[in-house]
Amino acid sequence: MEVYTDILSLKHTLTGLKTRKTIGLVPTMGALHRGHLSLVELSNSTCDITVVSIFVNPTQFNNKDDYKHYPRTVEKDIEMLQRAGCHIVFTPTEQEIYPEKDTKVFDFGDLDKVMEGKFRPGHFNGVAQIVSRLFDIVQPDKSFFGQKDFQQTAIIKNMVRQLNLTTEIVIAPIIREQDGLAMSSRNTLLTDIQRKNAADISRALFRLKQQAASGVSVNEITQVAIRQINANPELSVEYLEIVDGKTLQPVLNWNHQGEIFACVAVNVGKIRLIDNVQLK
Ligand code: PAJ
Repeated sequence: MEVYTDILSLKHTLTGLKTRKTIGLVPTMGALHRGHLSLVELSNSTCDITVVSIFVNPTQFNNKDDYKHYPRTVEKDIEMLQRAGCHIVFTPTEQEIYPEKDTKVFDFGDLDKVMEGKFRPGHFNGVAQIVSRLFDIVQPDKSFFGQKDFQQTAIIKNMVRQLNLTTEIVIAPIIREQDGLAMSSRNTLLTDIQRKNAADISRALFRLKQQAASGVSVNEITQVAIRQINANPELSVEYLEIVDGKTLQPVLNWNHQGEIFACVAVNVGKIRLIDNVQLK
């Protein structure tokens, strides 16, 4: 496995490989866990070369403290990637990625006005800035993203269409801890008590899914799940919405045509966690 910190050497290597090999890209912000590694495995199983980027992208953080405290474990990450059979790791500095301030502004219509977009203004513009740069540098045949960041997958697919890119976007299922908590780099920031209580988030989502199957109304189900999570004094729901899988707009009843997802953001103390589950 090779580790690159500068764009030119990485591009040089990739240009040599591209004529014969397919390239898979897994963009990450590091502090890797099994969720990230599942993307590496998927890339390895469908592409010749897997490139993993590790970069805590400042432009997608709307909260300075969140950026400052975001876990950084690059050496351990590199060891994990080596064991996982990754071929190339790209760990650029901020200066390397943004020699000048990125002023690009994307228009995602209504996609970034809801849920994460509403509560984290500018977040998805920052995600699009970094992911478009990574796509430009690596020129991957396929790029791998997790369903865990459901809204992010919709934004990236939209960006690929807008920019007429040819990389295929592959979405992988959410990997969970044994008690159901969706794996996240931010989970390491939780105290033991918070960590235990955080499992109530996915418990509420799974219960909600069962109730949806038994026909309880969308509105009632939403309110019940919010109350269930908020009943835990460690947890505070920021939003819980039942939305269309493509437009991300609220779904009013179960007759809705198309895929339906329940999405939630919860504050566990100062740590903000998200999760989702497909209902239809
Ligand atoms: P990060 O949170 O590090 O996640 C990197 C990728 O891993 C994302 O596609 C995310 O959806 C996926 N992932 C995280 N937890 C997962 C889980 N439990 N199961 C499956 N996949 C999971 O998302 C980002 O970084 C950044 O926004 C990024 C796209 C790298 C741009 O900076």
